Amino acid sequence: MNAKKIVGEKAVDFIQDGMIVGLGTGSTVYYSLLKLGRQLEAGLSIQGIPTSVQTKELAEKLRIPLIGFEDVNEIDLTIDGADEVDRNLNLIKGGGGALVREKIIAKASKRFIVVADPSKMVNTLGAFPLPVEVVPFGAQLTEKHIKKLNGEPRLRQSNGTPYLTDNGNYIFDCTFLDITKPFELEIALNSIPGVVDNGLFNGMADVVITVDNGEPIFLD
Ligand code: 5RP
Repeated sequence: MNAKKIVGEKAVDFIQDGMIVGLGTGSTVYYSLLKLGRQLEAGLSIQGIPTSVQTKELAEKLRIPLIGFEDVNEIDLTIDGADEVDRNLNLIKGGGGALVREKIIAKASKRFIVVADPSKMVNTLGAFPLPVEVVPFGAQLTEKHIKKLNGEPRLRQSNGTPYLTDNGNYIFDCTFLDITKPFELEIALNSIPGVVDNGLFNGMADVVITVDNGEPIFLD
């Protein structure tokens, strides 16, 4: 079985009847959503909060009941993927462009479960370019500030035009070489005017599910 399927499906074991569940974005969480859809058909009852338009559409197709923020104080559990996971369970996220909504929902969750196939596990973050979401206004200026932090930003493109997030913003995918101080970098980036947020999810994951010898393992 492929590793994304193993970890994606395993995470669904954390979901209990009656929970409000944050629904992450990406090809790993895809397997969580498929399994959740099957469990709902079998009688499980939950309400989901999607982290992207893509996930909302998939959830609707799978008849996963969705709930709005106005009706929620706290999210019981969120399952989401990652692009990199370091030894301290700090993450790079946002490869799929959903980092802002993902961080809002992860932050509001009592438990944040991350599903990561072994290719995502690293000693030090940074081989995967760090996504930074910026408002389009003055993006060239914002880019210059990112460069001052020793990042090499590249504007994400889609069909030859700037990629737009679900929030109508741009993403700079930034090469930082090794990210040895992820907490400092997260704060420094978010202090730049025009930056909405960045894909560093430091100290947020409660459990990371990955695979060893074909079996799911839990890191916490
Ligand atoms: C989307 C994300 C995804 O969780 C991350 O890119 C991992 O995706 P995949 O499971 O497809 O490898 O952060 O913004």
